[in-house]
Amino acid sequence: MNLYKYVSDAINEKLGFAANLEIPRNREFGDFSTNAAMVGAKLAHKNPRELAGEILPKIQELDFVDAATIAGPGFINIKIRDDFILKNATAPAPYKNETPLVIDMDYGAYNVAKSLHIGHLRTSIVGDTLNRIFRFMGHKTISYNHMGDWGRSMGMVIAWIKRIHPDWPFFQNNFDANMDLSKYTFSPSELNTFYPQASALAKQDEKFMDDVHTITAELQRGHPGYNALYNIFMPISLKSMHDTIHKLNILPFDNDLGEKNAALYEAPVEKLLREKNLLVESDGAEIVVVKRDTDTAPMPPVMFHNSRGATTYDATDIMAIYYRKLTDNPNKIIYLTDSRQSLHFEQLFRIAELTGLFDTKNLEHIGYGTINGADGKPFKTRSGNAADLDDIIQIATDAVRARASENNKELDDDTIDTIAIAALKFNDLIHDLRSDYIFDPDSVTSFEGKTGPYVLYTAVRLNSVLKRATNTPKLNNHILLPDERNLLMTIMDFDRTIQSAYENRATDMIANYAYNLCQLINAFYHSCPILRDDIDDDTKQSRLYITKIARDTLVTTTDLMGLKIPDKM
Ligand code: ARG
Repeated sequence: MNLYKYVSDAINEKLGFAANLEIPRNREFGDFSTNAAMVGAKLAHKNPRELAGEILPKIQELDFVDAATIAGPGFINIKIRDDFILKNATAPAPYKNETPLVIDMDYGAYNVAKSLHIGHLRTSIVGDTLNRIFRFMGHKTISYNHMGDWGRSMGMVIAWIKRIHPDWPFFQNNFDANMDLSKYTFSPSELNTFYPQASALAKQDEKFMDDVHTITAELQRGHPGYNALYNIFMPISLKSMHDTIHKLNILPFDNDLGEKNAALYEAPVEKLLREKNLLVESDGAEIVVVKRDTDTAPMPPVMFHNSRGATTYDATDIMAIYYRKLTDNPNKIIYLTDSRQSLHFEQLFRIAELTGLFDTKNLEHIGYGTINGADGKPFKTRSGNAADLDDIIQIATDAVRARASENNKELDDDTIDTIAIAALKFNDLIHDLRSDYIFDPDSVTSFEGKTGPYVLYTAVRLNSVLKRATNTPKLNNHILLPDERNLLMTIMDFDRTIQSAYENRATDMIANYAYNLCQLINAFYHSCPILRDDIDDDTKQSRLYITKIARDTLVTTTDLMGLKIPDKM
């Protein structure tokens, strides 16, 4: 139950106006505090403290109120009855939404033939958790890995292969797509070296850059050799993306469909733009002007076709909206990318408005911050390269292994991997996603503090208590000890938390909730013996019940974060 909402609604209904309910930091004087007397005093032109005296008996009548007292200028503190808590505390369950939304979620968005790097960590982890939150709230989500698989980077890769293997059939005039091409293949790591090399060369070699542009346009126009080559490296790259996603325990994407798929809808989108007179020729390219008279910040036009006739990243995003509308007809499309793409999405949403393609209030871009190293600059590996996701996972795994041996813990490889992934993910989720953060492999893998390992450790502990128990968990009426009470109250705060996490698109609320819950679980575990011999059966049953719903609540939050709980730690 959403205890907060229950209490707040009941007070408002009783008094006939809406007041604000707060959860005080210090629960000593009450579980909730309302400013109802202040609000009511304003409405009735009365003295708040006096009005508080009049309101108090009404509040005391409410079925969940144990005690209500006046504090300060007229706040009313409310303590909830133990039996009310005992009767209503349950583990959370996914919502059945009467009016579910269809939400297209665009995150991950990896680039073909480029390895996943640190810049993809947040879009993957936060995107996956947002997806899980939306599903928990009863919405239907359709996730898209909108791959960069059709633009200049493909031209780069093909141009590079052409340079190192000019004799390969893909580049000959008599290329025959039906020949046996099985010997033309690459290892994923080899494939990942092509783009960086090509891009470095393109910076200094104009002729090569020119080739890249020509190849990109020809690929898009259906050049058989380039397309055959693309069809060879595409699945290799896709497989390595999937391997990394799987390691991170991220839900598989509903659609691995990116720019290439969107580009199939070029004709109808172009038609739409022409009908509205939105395509303007400019130095051989075609652009859409999105600037408004009211703009104060620069708002450059969007390039639809470049001067070679190639389709741009911006253009394929318009086509993707067209495609998604046609296939999913979603209520909302939500994009999660680095905040440096904000301008791109602003431009895109303006085109959606100009063309009438999609209601812009249902297009949402969430921009996340950068992951930095100790020096405050984007995190690099020791060799000074932008870190690959696989490197990051390795760094975290090594740190967990070192820590386990420091603590004389014998953990198998699977458990170490599970802990390392949880450390990485939890650390990412607990930061406000819109800000930058500093990644420190040592602190994120600590078994104490606000870390993934601490959360897992707490869950493992509860599982082990429940495994050892011979009594059936059952709530018996009793006076709650403070640590039992605090824990149950927080369990009953899950619904409010997920609701705000959903509304604010704030995954850190879930991570912080999990951490808080763990602290209260551990306090309860230390002060309220559960299975000890001197504990009577009724208390044992009750505490086991509390343990069970605490465990189930914690498991729900770890599931939302895509963390796996090891058997032992
Ligand atoms: N592949 C792009 C990148 O790595 C991100 C794509 C985001 N999604 C989108 N629909 N534009 O920068």
